[in-house]
Amino acid sequence: MSLIRQPGMLGPLKLKNRITLAPLGTNFSTSDGLITDRDRAYYAERAKGGVSMIMTSAMGVNGRARSHRFTPVCYHDRFIPGLASLVETIKSHDCHVFGQLNHHGALLHEPGAVAVGPSDWINPKTGDGVRPMTRDEIVEVQKDFASAARRLWVAGYDGVEIHAANGYLFQQFFTPRINHRTDEYGGSVENRMRFLVETVKRMQDAAPGLLVMVRFSVTEFTPDGYTQDDAIALARGLEQAGVVALDLSGGSNETPQLSKYCIQTPSFPRGCLAPLAKPIRDAVSIPVFVAGRIVEPQDAEAVLASGSADFISLGRALYADPHWCLKAFGEVDAPIRQCIACNVCHDRLSAERDVTCVQNPLMGTPFETLPLAEPQLDPQPPRAARQRVLVLGAGVSGVEAARVAAARGHQVEVWERSDRIGGQVAMAIAAPDKKEVEAAWRYPLQQATALGVPIRTGVVADAASIRAFAPDLVVLATGAVPRPAPFDVDAIDASITVLQAWDVLRQPDRVAPGTRVTIVGGGTVGMETADLLAARGVRVSLVEPKAVLGEGMSKSNRTEVADRLRAAGVVVRLKTQVVSAEGGILELRGPEGAPVRHEIGEMLLVAVGAQPNLGMVPVLEDVGLPYVAIGDCSAPGDFMTCLRDARMVGYAIDQYAVRPAKVAPGSARLS
Ligand SMILES: Cc1cc2nc3c(=O)[nH]c(=O)nc-3n(C[C@H](O)[C@H](O)[C@H](O)COP(=O)(O)OP(=O)(O)OC[C@H]3O[C@@H](n4cnc5c(N)ncnc54)[C@H](O)[C@@H]3O)c2cc1C
Ligand SMILES: Cc1cc2nc3c(=O)[nH]c(=O)nc-3n(C[C@H](O)[C@H](O)[C@H](O)COP(=O)(O)O)c2cc1C
Ligand code: SF4
Repeated sequence: MSLIRQPGMLGPLKLKNRITLAPLGTNFSTSDGLITDRDRAYYAERAKGGVSMIMTSAMGVNGRARSHRFTPVCYHDRFIPGLASLVETIKSHDCHVFGQLNHHGALLHEPGAVAVGPSDWINPKTGDGVRPMTRDEIVEVQKDFASAARRLWVAGYDGVEIHAANGYLFQQFFTPRINHRTDEYGGSVENRMRFLVETVKRMQDAAPGLLVMVRFSVTEFTPDGYTQDDAIALARGLEQAGVVALDLSGGSNETPQLSKYCIQTPSFPRGCLAPLAKPIRDAVSIPVFVAGRIVEPQDAEAVLASGSADFISLGRALYADPHWCLKAFGEVDAPIRQCIACNVCHDRLSAERDVTCVQNPLMGTPFETLPLAEPQLDPQPPRAARQRVLVLGAGVSGVEAARVAAARGHQVEVWERSDRIGGQVAMAIAAPDKKEVEAAWRYPLQQATALGVPIRTGVVADAASIRAFAPDLVVLATGAVPRPAPFDVDAIDASITVLQAWDVLRQPDRVAPGTRVTIVGGGTVGMETADLLAARGVRVSLVEPKAVLGEGMSKSNRTEVADRLRAAGVVVRLKTQVVSAEGGILELRGPEGAPVRHEIGEMLLVAVGAQPNLGMVPVLEDVGLPYVAIGDCSAPGDFMTCLRDARMVGYAIDQYAVRPAKVAPGSARLS
C-alpha cells in the first residue's frame, strides 16, 4: 500500500490516511463571522474527497484579532452553533476536524488602532507602529485562546491548532528579530517560547479532552531570524507541554519577500519544506505535519518516504481539486487538477474577496461536487434533448466547454483555425517558472480527447460550413488578439524591428543575446517577456504607466519576478507613458510628468494588453444561429475566467435544450 493511504495515529485518534487539509482561509463566512452554507459546502466536498482530517481556517480569538473580513471567528459563544454545524457536516463524511486559532499581533492592521506585539516595532507591511504588550495583556490573550478552545470543544471539534507560524503573534514572541523584551517573555529561547507554552497549558485546562497541536515556521528564511536549534528547542518544549502534533510551515507574512516562504511561488521545488522539517521530526516523538508545494500524490509519497513528516498538510492542491485523495487512491478514475502556484487564491483573500481557484473557479458552489466537476464519470448523462454544439477555437475555453458539453451528452465538435491547438497556452508557459501553468490546459484536453470530441485544426469557418454543420448553438471561443501600440510606430527607424511581445513569446529565437530591446507595457505579458529575454542574455528596458509591474499577477509572484528583473539589470521605468516615437527614440512622460528621451535599441516590443477576437461575429449574425462568447473572446482575462465561463456555459447547454433560444436575425448573441 502506498504510504499516503496508510492510517496513522494523531494522539488517540486514528486518521484513515496521511492526507489532511491544511488551514486555508476562504472568506465564505458572514461579515459577523458566522458560518454559512458555502463554508459547509466547501468543507463537505473536501471531506467527501477523502482527506482524513480537516483543519478549519484561522479563526480570531478576539474581536480585534480577525484575519479577514469574512473569515469565521471564535471569540463568543454565539459562534458555537455555526461551528457545531460545520463539525457535524465534516464528521458525517468520516473525517476528523481540528480548528486553527490565531492572533495577528503586530501584523494586525486596523485603522485608528495601535497593534500590539512583544516589543516596539514597525510593521513593514503597513508602516504602522506597534507597542509592546503588558503582562496583563499577555494573560488576556492567553485567556482568549483558552476560551476559544473551550468553544471548539463544545462545538464538537476533535482538536485545536495554535497558529504560531507565518509571522503572527506567537512567532513575533519567538523570534529575536522582533522580541527585545527583558522580562521572562524575552531573551533566552525558553523565555521566547514561554508565551506559547503557557497558552497551550491554559487551553488544555479550559478544554480537557480537546487535542492541541501547534503550527510553526521551520525557519523564517531571513538571516536574523531564529535558528534551527531554536526551532528544535521549541518542538521539544511543545512536546513536553503535551501537544499531540507539530504542523510545520515556513516564513513570515510581513513582506512579499518573506511571505513567499509561507505560500510558495512556482520557483520553489515540490515539497520544499520537507528537508527543513526532517531535523525537527528527528528531534521529537510526536507526529509531524508539513505543507509546501505538495502538488501530486508522488510529491506527498516522497515527503513521507524521506522521513520528513508523518502527515501531509495539503493546502492549495485541495482548493484546486477537492477530490485529490479519491483520485490519488484510484477510487475516482480521473486525473487530478493540479495547483499551478499562481497564488490568485491568496490575492483574492488579501483583497477581501471570496477565495476561488484558477483550476477550480466554482469552489464552494454545487458546481464543484463530483457529478458536476467530473460529468464524464456519469455513464448515463442527462440528455433530455441532445444539442448539436459547434465550438470555434481550441484554446482552454473552447476545449473546456467542449469537455463539459460532451460529458453531459451533447454532440460537440471543436474547429480551430490555426494548425495547432492550445491558443495562448504556449505563450503562457514560455517564461521562467511558468511550466506548471500548462496543467490548466492539460486537464480539459485529456478529458475532451478521452470523450472522443473531434478537435479539427486548420478549419476556416464561414457561413456555409457553419450552416452545413447545423449546430443548435455555437460557442465562440476565439480568444483575444494583442492591442496595437497606442502611438505611431511608422516613424520609428526601419532598422529597428517592431513586434508584438506575443511574437517573441512564441519564437524567442527571434531575439539574439545582447540585443537591446525596449518593451512597452509591463503587465503580465510585458513582464514575462522581459523575464524570458533577460534570462537569454538580452538587454531589456521596460516602460509601464502604472506604479507596479505585472498588475494582473498575484502579489508574491509578481514581486519575485520584479526582483529577478532588477537583479538581471533590466531597466524598469514605472509611472511612465510613451508620448511618441521617432527615429530611434521614444519620447516618454515619466513620474510627475517629467519628459524623458529613451533610446529604443534594436527592437521595440508592444505589450499593451489584448482585446476580444470578435472576427466571427458578423458571420454568426449572418447565419442567425444562437451563439455565446466565452473566455478571452468575451473579455480578456486568465485561465480562471476562461474555465469559469466554459464550465458554466457547458452546463447552460442543458438549459438551452429545455428552452431553446429563438433568435431574430442580428440578435443571435446570447452573452
Ligand atoms: C504571455 C501570457 C502569459 C499568461 N499567463 C497566464 C497565467 O499565468 N495564468 C492565467 O490564468 N492566464 C495567463 N494568461 C492568459 C491565458 O493564457 C488566457 O486567458 C487563455 O489562454 C485564453 O484562452 P481562450 O481559449 O479564451 O483563448 P485563446 O487561448 O486565445 O484561444 C483561442 C483559439 O481560437 C482560435 N481561433 C481564433 N479565431 C478562430 C476562428 N475564426 N475559428 C476557429 N478558431 C479560431 C485561435 O487560433 C486560438 O487557438 C497568459 C497569457 C499570455 C499571453
Ligand atoms: C488563500 C490562502 C489562505 C491561507 N490561510 C491560512 C490560514 O488560515 N492559516 C494557516 O496557517 N495557513 C494558511 N495558508 C497557508 C497554507 O495552509 C499552506 O501552508 C500554504 O499554502 C503552503 O502549502 P500548499 O503549497 O500545500 O498550499 C493559506 C494559504 C492560502 C493560499
Ligand atoms: S488559485 Fe492558483 S495557487 Fe491558488 S490553489 Fe488555485 S491553482 Fe493553486
